[in-house]
Amino acid sequence: MYDAKAYAASSATSPLASTTISRRDPTEHDVQIEILFCGICHSDLHTVRNEWSGAVPTAYPCIPGHEIVGRITRVGSAVTRFRPGDVAAVGCMVDSDGTCPECRAGLEQFCPNVTLTYNFPDKHLGGVTYGGYSDSVVVSERFVLRVPSGLDLAGTAPLLCAGITTYSPMRHWGVTRGKKVGVVGLGGLGHMGAKLAHAFGAHVVVFTTSLSKKDDALRLGADEVVLSRNADEMQKHAGSFDFILDTVSADHDINAYLNLLRRDGNITLVGAPPKPLSVPAFALLMGRRSLSGSVIGGIAETQEMLDFCGAHHITSDVEVIPIQKVNEAYERLLKSDVKYRFSIDMASLKSE
Ligand SMILES: NC(=O)c1ccc[n+]([C@@H]2O[C@H](COP(=O)([O-])OP(=O)(O)OC[C@H]3O[C@@H](n4cnc5c(N)ncnc54)[C@H](OP(=O)(O)O)[C@@H]3O)[C@@H](O)[C@H]2O)c1
Ligand SMILES: [Zn+2]
Ligand SMILES: [Zn+2]
Repeated sequence: MYDAKAYAASSATSPLASTTISRRDPTEHDVQIEILFCGICHSDLHTVRNEWSGAVPTAYPCIPGHEIVGRITRVGSAVTRFRPGDVAAVGCMVDSDGTCPECRAGLEQFCPNVTLTYNFPDKHLGGVTYGGYSDSVVVSERFVLRVPSGLDLAGTAPLLCAGITTYSPMRHWGVTRGKKVGVVGLGGLGHMGAKLAHAFGAHVVVFTTSLSKKDDALRLGADEVVLSRNADEMQKHAGSFDFILDTVSADHDINAYLNLLRRDGNITLVGAPPKPLSVPAFALLMGRRSLSGSVIGGIAETQEMLDFCGAHHITSDVEVIPIQKVNEAYERLLKSDVKYRFSIDMASLKSE
């Protein structure tokens, strides 16, 4: 074991603060990574504040962060795919059983024995896993991703969650040229959804509550922007969408979007608001519409997404911040005030 620097929350109501944690020395199959950048996902905030206590209660101290890019510093003796000095990435998962039907299908995110990057039982050290708000991490080689060359690393980190979470359901539901696609909420996930849907060739409509984001939405890949609080603007799109991706982090009216789907259209939830949504039966019955969910993506698909982003020069629009500003960043996230992802420059942790 060795000491690593990190930022942790000690309770649901305390701010994140500097701390020291123990990490395992790499086993023969592990890779040790010096973390360069870590994105701030709204899931970090939900978890730190124990907002998902019904589904996944938070264990404290909690060290979030699952959008990790860094440089490999050590590899175990059996590691074949990576070498010290390589740039590498880690997303929301650090382990799974590798043998169940989900793992065999490349869908590790649904493995009953998956280990998420933070706040999940740590099979090596006991306690829970600690995420990327830290100067280093040790991860099984199977869960380490390659970063295509030429991408800005601060903007690449958010691809590991916001990128794959929007890429995977759009691939699954056949978002391609000729499809009309909606993206609800222009935050971290939403802006990646808009960029990727545009790259897939779809006609992209962004729904936002923030008037001030209209020009940005068009720049990021939207063909049209709708202010979702304007009922007339919404009504113009009734019955017209093939697919809508809902990235909203808080309570909202999903019925307003179900009514925008055409026959056999689908709306997929990736946002995870703590409170249940209210779904009127008739909004689904009429037009045989469907509502589904999706969570991140498997490791092979995450690599596919990174390679796609490399080929299309896609990264996240980031505000790079020092770790000392993380609590301020959380408050801004709650006000939908981020353009469009915070990425922590982990060099700032050295001074702690
Ligand atoms: N399924 C998964 O695998 C997965 C992965 C990552 C994150 N998530 C979840 O996805 C959600 C979004 O994450 P994120 O990191 O993208 O968050 P974010 O950057 O905070 O973006 C959320 C956006 O939702 C909109 N919004 C917020 N409050 C709203 C309200 N009350 N009514 C309507 N719209 C509202 C805002 O967009 P406008 O200003 O444009 O309206 C905001 O920018 C979170 O719940 C997160 O936990 C799920
Ligand atoms: Zn996330
Ligand atoms: Zn499995």
